[in-house]
Amino acid sequence: MEMPETCDFTVFGGTGDLALRKLLPALYLRDHEDQLPRDCRIIAVSRSEYDDTAYRAEVRASLQRHVDPADLREDVVERLLSRLHHVSLDFEDPEGWHLLHGLLKDRPSYDETVRVYYLAVAPSMFGEICARLEEIGAVDPQARVVMEKPIGHDLASARAVNESVGRVFEERQIFRIDHYLGKETVQNLLVTRFANTFLEPLWNSSWVDHVQITVAESLGVGNRGGYYDSAGALRDMVQNHLLQLLCLVAMEPPTYVDRETVRDEKLKVLLALRPMTPEIVDRDTVRGCYAAGEVDGEPVPSYAEDLGRDGSRTETFVALKTEVQNWRWAGVPFYLRTGKRMDRRASEIVVVLKRPPHAMFPGAEGVTTANRLHIQVQPDEGMRLHLTVKEPGPGGYRLRPVSLDLSYATAFGQRLPDAYERLLMDVMKGNPTLFMRRDEVEAAWAWAEPILRRWDESPVPPLDYPAGSAGPQAAAALLERDGRTWQELDA
Ligand code: BG6
Repeated sequence: MEMPETCDFTVFGGTGDLALRKLLPALYLRDHEDQLPRDCRIIAVSRSEYDDTAYRAEVRASLQRHVDPADLREDVVERLLSRLHHVSLDFEDPEGWHLLHGLLKDRPSYDETVRVYYLAVAPSMFGEICARLEEIGAVDPQARVVMEKPIGHDLASARAVNESVGRVFEERQIFRIDHYLGKETVQNLLVTRFANTFLEPLWNSSWVDHVQITVAESLGVGNRGGYYDSAGALRDMVQNHLLQLLCLVAMEPPTYVDRETVRDEKLKVLLALRPMTPEIVDRDTVRGCYAAGEVDGEPVPSYAEDLGRDGSRTETFVALKTEVQNWRWAGVPFYLRTGKRMDRRASEIVVVLKRPPHAMFPGAEGVTTANRLHIQVQPDEGMRLHLTVKEPGPGGYRLRPVSLDLSYATAFGQRLPDAYERLLMDVMKGNPTLFMRRDEVEAAWAWAEPILRRWDESPVPPLDYPAGSAGPQAAAALLERDGRTWQELDA
């Protein structure tokens, strides 16, 4: 899949946080590497009354805030700014659509231009925007639409969003972003598993005791309380990012890596997840909400204070146990947890192998711990394999746990591109491999929905946990009752 010669990249929600903090810095950094099509234009659409000059000034300021100064080059900044246009558009008002259409038409080689429409707005607007784009004649077979999550808030609403967008764009033209799939370490999971032979024979229920997937954040909800309170950690993180990580850990090797095969294999994992009956939800899920506490030695407010009101029952933390019910994974627990305002920002996948079947070093000092593979998704991207070795020296066996470390920073010594850099390039090239297909999104909702339903029925609110902690004690108990513990993050 080649980069097209010409592209118009239109962002609905062009003055929003995502556009300014993530999308434009990512486009800048790719422009820095000369990877944008030569006459690529970036058209920001929003309700704001900006003209091009004012919008460019806003983007310049935001690049200064969000791009590492070492990567800021004035000539590249100027080039990127010269690509930018702003269209003020009130969705109800035909005038704005007319302006947008005029701008899209106003370029050489209109027919050859790949038009990308990035929907960085509330999902309730997705269908309407697509319908309007079709009305003004701006959708042709090579046009693409990119949808940010959340795609719905349950299965029915996700289906409705998919239906409304699907009336205008074919599935091959629809790119549903899960930015975790653009992270280097997440893509490396596929390569580590399938471009090597040493893991695959062990990667099953005969050798794996259990899997832990943690996405811990130290930040609170900040100024996103409005959205977050209607979502919560299960919708915001588990239904998408954590389940995608689980899929990449658990999936079968695809015949080769292409746009459908990887997604076919991930879908099979989602469909094999153990259904969450009310009894299982009560037994195998824990939800929490952060109280005031301390993060990095600084006092931080509670969720209710961040939100500006009491009485919310939204969870900011989830821990749960699930299983992939297939031949490879039968009986292997997958423990997932994620939370805001935890003691650190760290995302990690830990595959814990079974212990040796027999203790053959009688009188040995020290312990034989289970082998573990830690895949550090972020920060400090890398992998560590924990082994037991003999401490050097005479006089019997002293056993010691050590780790073989692969640090991306040390091994590759270069900046790792942000997930959006990779994903935006893939959209322009028309490569959907790292995007979620409609059936995946809906299968993930079908699994998550019974959890949400059961929690809604429950009179018990989420458990408090102090900001700056590892979550509620019940999350530890979830593993302890199975004779296991959460692995120390980054340890
Ligand atoms: C987003 C969630 O999808 O992912 C946020 O909506 C969360 O709540 C973010 O903070 C985490 O992404 P990252 O890349 O910082 O781990």
